[in-house]
Amino acid sequence: MRTSVKDLLKSASAQSSVKLCGWVRTRRDSKGFAFVEVNDGSCLQGIQVIVDAGIPGADQVSKMNTGASVEVLGELVESPGKGQSWEVQATEVKLVGGVPEDFPLQKKGHTPEFLRSIAHLRPRTNLYGATFRMRSRLAYAVHRFFNERDFTYVHTPIITASDCEGAGEMFRVTTNEGGKPEEDFFGKKSYLTVSGQLEGETFACALSNIYTFGPTFRAENSNTSRHAAEFWMIEPEMAFCNLEGDMDLAEEFIQFLVKDVLENNGGDLSIFEKFVDKGLRARLEKLASGGFERMSYTEAVERLQKSGKKFAYPVEWGITLQSEHERYLCEEVVKGPLTVYDYPKAIKPFYMRANDDGKTVTAMDVLVPGVGEIIGGSQREERYDLLKAAMAHHDLSLENYGWYLDLRKYGTVPHAGFGAGFERLLMYVTGMQNIRDVIPFARTPGHCEF
Ligand code: 4AD
Ligand code: MG
Repeated sequence: MRTSVKDLLKSASAQSSVKLCGWVRTRRDSKGFAFVEVNDGSCLQGIQVIVDAGIPGADQVSKMNTGASVEVLGELVESPGKGQSWEVQATEVKLVGGVPEDFPLQKKGHTPEFLRSIAHLRPRTNLYGATFRMRSRLAYAVHRFFNERDFTYVHTPIITASDCEGAGEMFRVTTNEGGKPEEDFFGKKSYLTVSGQLEGETFACALSNIYTFGPTFRAENSNTSRHAAEFWMIEPEMAFCNLEGDMDLAEEFIQFLVKDVLENNGGDLSIFEKFVDKGLRARLEKLASGGFERMSYTEAVERLQKSGKKFAYPVEWGITLQSEHERYLCEEVVKGPLTVYDYPKAIKPFYMRANDDGKTVTAMDVLVPGVGEIIGGSQREERYDLLKAAMAHHDLSLENYGWYLDLRKYGTVPHAGFGAGFERLLMYVTGMQNIRDVIPFARTPGHCEF
């Protein structure tokens, strides 16, 4: 039985016989022995192994270079060195897989761009190992949050015929390239989903509180540090809920995730603080204890106009807020997270509930410093006639969306929900600046390697 480095490092006592497997990070040779630092990805730290000349396998030690895989039998003993509690005095070592000199992760300090080109090897670095452990923990925290609140997890389809956001940014799915849609696999045009919301709503109108958590796809050709063509989204949907309740849940959700990471990933957080964002922990602690500011879209526009700042994209009522506006609002105006609500109807999708002013809809976006929009949601239009008119206005066919309208025909209820970008959440809790660095294999325009 092998023991993980994580468990070895937190052992309560010395152990006479342990087995450890992993990859060599560094090796230092001395007269009569060698120090080999082994990491197995179970935690940020590696463990030091002392290999005396003469033990079985010691003749292989010169091949235990950075990146090689090894198996070690030995004793867990107290470490005389500073910083670490335990080390392994080897009694036998084995080189499992050697590594030629061209192993790309020899030196420290590679650029993120270079590491993206070797995304198959970058999880072996400290920073990316920590990032992907954080990703795993955050996913677990998402499920815990909803589970504790009795939300039912629903798997909405990946292949769909409807365009939820109406932005026409869908990847086509076909087995009949160039052929007629009616002769294609599904007998009509089909796509990869941009959001599980519409199908999610059908389940909320039966099980009351539901959520989805899965991959979503957008063929938007925006080469930014916050957009990916394939990303993961969390979408809760609540029956008998209005915009207010929706904003409450969104803010509580982010706070819960941040608290979870602070409590459980302290070790990994330290590397982001050291190399990515010095103020990370302070920023997360502030969010965990403090509240979110709220502001209507109309007020947000006024604040931007009054700021006197020159934006690349000029501000006037009716525009889609750009990343520069969103970041200015939370970084300079409120200096923290901000929820903006009641957006102009003309810039939002067909399903959002119309406000009485005739100009705005019950939409909301949660904006955070450093990232901008992290969550987008709304109360849904539950009134049959109004939804039908909105669908007609957006040229949506009853043939394709009749089932969605049915929810308003049979026992309609006010309901609301939101979508949280999982990678954006991860960027926020790690401080990582580019979405390509928090997803294992990024899909962006021109990139589909691995
Ligand atoms: O604001 P969006 O487009 O909202 C919806 O899709 C709704 N149907 C959600 C709902 O109400 N159930 O997307 C939601 C979130 C954004 O706030 C953002 O965090 C993330 O998804 N997101 C992206 N993340 C990475 N890459 C992209 N291209 C993204 N587009 C949206
Ligand atoms: Mg949005």
